[in-house]
Amino acid sequence: MEHRIRLNCAMLLAFAATAIAQTPASRPIPHLEKRGAVTQLIVDGKPWLSLAGELLNNAASTVENVRPVWPTLEKAHLNTALIGVGWGWTEPEEGKYDFSALDGALRDARNSNLRVVLLWFGSWKNGTSSYPPVWVKRNWEKYPIARDKDGKGREILSTLSAANREADARAYAALMRHVREVDSATRTVVMIQMENEVGLLGDTRDRCKQANEAFAGPVPKELMDYLEKNKSTLLPETQKLWDSAGGKTSGSWEEVFGKGPGADEAFMAWHYARYMNRVTEAGKKEYPLPVYVNAWLVQPEDKQPGDYPSGGPQAHNHDFWRAGAPQIDILAPDIYLMNFAEIATLYARNGNPLFIPETRGDAANAFYAFGQLNAQMFSPFGIERQVGEDSPLARAYDVLAQLSPLILAHQDDGTMKAVIVEPGTGSQKVRLGNYVFDFAMGRGWGAPPQFAPGPTALPAPSVAGVPQIAPVAVRRPPLPDRGYAIVIQTGPEDFWVAGANLNIKLASTLAAAPMASLAAVEEGKFENGAWVVGRHLAGDDTGMGGDDRASLRLRAEPGILRVSLYSYR
Ligand code: DGJ
Repeated sequence: MEHRIRLNCAMLLAFAATAIAQTPASRPIPHLEKRGAVTQLIVDGKPWLSLAGELLNNAASTVENVRPVWPTLEKAHLNTALIGVGWGWTEPEEGKYDFSALDGALRDARNSNLRVVLLWFGSWKNGTSSYPPVWVKRNWEKYPIARDKDGKGREILSTLSAANREADARAYAALMRHVREVDSATRTVVMIQMENEVGLLGDTRDRCKQANEAFAGPVPKELMDYLEKNKSTLLPETQKLWDSAGGKTSGSWEEVFGKGPGADEAFMAWHYARYMNRVTEAGKKEYPLPVYVNAWLVQPEDKQPGDYPSGGPQAHNHDFWRAGAPQIDILAPDIYLMNFAEIATLYARNGNPLFIPETRGDAANAFYAFGQLNAQMFSPFGIERQVGEDSPLARAYDVLAQLSPLILAHQDDGTMKAVIVEPGTGSQKVRLGNYVFDFAMGRGWGAPPQFAPGPTALPAPSVAGVPQIAPVAVRRPPLPDRGYAIVIQTGPEDFWVAGANLNIKLASTLAAAPMASLAAVEEGKFENGAWVVGRHLAGDDTGMGGDDRASLRLRAEPGILRVSLYSYR
């Protein structure tokens, strides 16, 4: 009896321990972790590659509206959905909050096994202030708006107003307190986007009374100190702007950064960063999820800041954002322009983690972002219009979801590479270890898809006073299918090759054994993390070695190959 009781006690204790271990509250809060040179998002204690999509702006403003979308996203192999939370619909009356739409969305997202990123549409969305509550919008004397050269008001809350900032911070803190209360157990919400594509539109800087006074005053000491302390690692754009006015260590904005749009934009970047830092800080005190801001990029037709949102987190403003907003973890690009890789690379400078919260639903770019640029998030905008179960993006996400553990393990250790091959262009070579993979479209596949090239890249626009380092490409109609692949090396002769639309020839770099060939090739898929072979490939399904050179094929349907090579002479 005593024995049985003791046993029962032991069982109870064990049960309690298990229960505690599994208490949802024990799930660690999503956070960022630096692993080597890469910063990864950690969800439930493990790195998380966000195969994401952003819903249309107001999709989640009611539970009913967004409900049908969740199962579609799950079937399309997304693991993360980005949804807007409007200030106006969460605080319809000052101090009275309504989070019912959010609660319903989180419950339904969870049921479809999706994690969620909340987009806080607070003071600004696409530069303007369309999402603040009515009681803010109608009281522009208490909540002042920005003014242009002619003193005309813009529908943009002024960054210089403490009333604006504190009202936003209170609402955002309430949101984060609520998320902590309802979501600490499940951690469905993994990140926050602070505001949306901020910056001043219609003028180079705000010219309301407070803004004019601040602009005439000295550059804040915190900013000067930051620039001096980080002088050796400042971005070339910042260095150029500062140097062009003589590299002064104090003075007014025009004395330090020169008279013109460059100083105006630096001023705006600093004030947006300070404002949003304060709002972010208020939220992190409640619930410290990682926070990013997203940028409306400079467009080819733009002449000066204000044509695009002046002072937003565009790549050339990053130092001002870093200095002014240490609470913000990531500066992210919304990439709709065609020079995807070039823009992404600008956003990966100085240790900025690469998250792409808005882009086109281009499967090739998704592969390239994760496999070559060490991106942690890829998120096409208006996802509910882009994915059906069988859409090209859904099929690519299926493969990326299977490969995620491998991708996350190999980012930035030199054992993973990715390529995109445009129709009608030559091949691209990738070397890993002693082997060279030579990727081409169409070789051995019949005629390549028809492609009428669009206009080529335009020269960088001359944005007066704003140093531009990247040429800006023009927008083109959707691309025809491109070839794309990720190659991951797991041993001297062992590789995973995944992608679509490519023929791959192989070569060895060893002088003693210059011929490369296929030791074994498997086509298959990962099921619950385990590799399941669909077919063993040789003969007609691969090329031969020797003069013909060994070759592999990635078909129009994205797929995964497990490949072992050998070399000989
Ligand atoms: C960029 C914005 O950030 C999104 O919210 C959305 O408005 C898209 N533009 C529309 O193309």
